[in-house]
Amino acid sequence: MSETHESAPATPVFSVRNLWKVFGPKAHRVPGDKELAGLSAAELTKRTGCTAAVRDVSFDVRKGEVFVVMGLSGSGKSTLVRCLTRLIEPTAGVLEMDGEDVRAMDKHRLRELRRHRTAMVFQNFGLLPHRTVTDNVAYGLEIQGMSKQERRAKGTEMVEKVGLEGLGDRRPVQLSGGQQQRVGLARALAVDPEVLLFDEPFSALDPLIRRDMQEEVIRLHREEGRTMIFITHDLSEALRLGDRILLMRDGEIVQLGTPEEIVANPADDYVRDFVRDVPREQVISVRRAMRPAEKADGDNGAELSPDTLVSDAIEAVARSGENLRVVDDGRTIGVIDHACLLNVVAGIDGDDDGEGDPGKDKEVAAV
Ligand SMILES: Nc1ncnc2c1ncn2[C@@H]1O[C@H](COP(=O)(O)OP(=O)(O)OP(=O)(O)O)[C@@H](O)[C@H]1O
Ligand SMILES: [Mg+2]
Repeated sequence: MSETHESAPATPVFSVRNLWKVFGPKAHRVPGDKELAGLSAAELTKRTGCTAAVRDVSFDVRKGEVFVVMGLSGSGKSTLVRCLTRLIEPTAGVLEMDGEDVRAMDKHRLRELRRHRTAMVFQNFGLLPHRTVTDNVAYGLEIQGMSKQERRAKGTEMVEKVGLEGLGDRRPVQLSGGQQQRVGLARALAVDPEVLLFDEPFSALDPLIRRDMQEEVIRLHREEGRTMIFITHDLSEALRLGDRILLMRDGEIVQLGTPEEIVANPADDYVRDFVRDVPREQVISVRRAMRPAEKADGDNGAELSPDTLVSDAIEAVARSGENLRVVDDGRTIGVIDHACLLNVVAGIDGDDDGEGDPGKDKEVAAV
């Protein structure tokens, strides 16, 4: 397990170590059995009739981040996220929320975790058809035992928060798909959870509405800084929303990193396939694209911050007509010229610090 480069962060919201979920007969024997645990997904099913939906997975979700879980259909995304609140019981491993052992929680503690500390938004909205919008939004508060007056007030506030002013008295059938998902979102927000869990919430929506909803999530995250775990199999959604992305295949972590790390440094061919069509200049920053400064570059001229996206640097270089210095904390840490920018666009790794080594980011998975 490797450490982060940053200084020690606060206790993670979720800390997951060597987590397994195996479905099938005598599932519990699989994680502890070296031979069985080492089998490929297909071999395991053939030998034991079991499916290892989550295999020996370790990661932390940090407070305030949008943590995206990605992977092809059947890779174990929903199972993994449902294990976090024990909607699916893990087969083996360590699972903590705010440092507390989730697997050791009794019924009451677990109910509190599901009703108060987390809230889930589903792909199929999961609204109650006979209730009004406001009553759907207030549903979680009703379960919590809040008084009618209080929960209606809170429900109305949340309906407005997600942009559904004036629609509170409608029934779900009287809303568009996008509006229904806003109700799902408002319902999750109403309980003021520490973590919002999204399982492909927007995949049933058409692309324009989907984009609206992504903007909504970004806005809510910016305003509230709430921790979010977001499942998707859509790469552009993952790149747009994720602070970090965990990529799964056959129940295992293939890579965990920032969008930039994943696009610039795919761990293997599976990830490379995923990111093949990504416009790299819109994800990669000049910190990764720059070359070392040389004497001939001088100390004058325009500056860029290291986090500037290459697409913006292209404009800046075009405008100024000269190389630009990348300046961090008043110190020149590198130079951006046409060649650096072209390397990014052409898909040639501009790193010269050894980070171009594919597979390196795999280690990050355990952080
Ligand atoms: N209750 C179950 N019993 C047996 N196998 C299951 C069960 N639930 C899930 N699986 C299997 O576990 C694997 C992972 O399923 P999961 O639903 O987590 O995938 P996913 O990544 O969410 O896929 P999708 O993108 O289609 O939603 C799949 O092979 C699935 O068939
Ligand atoms: Mg799923």
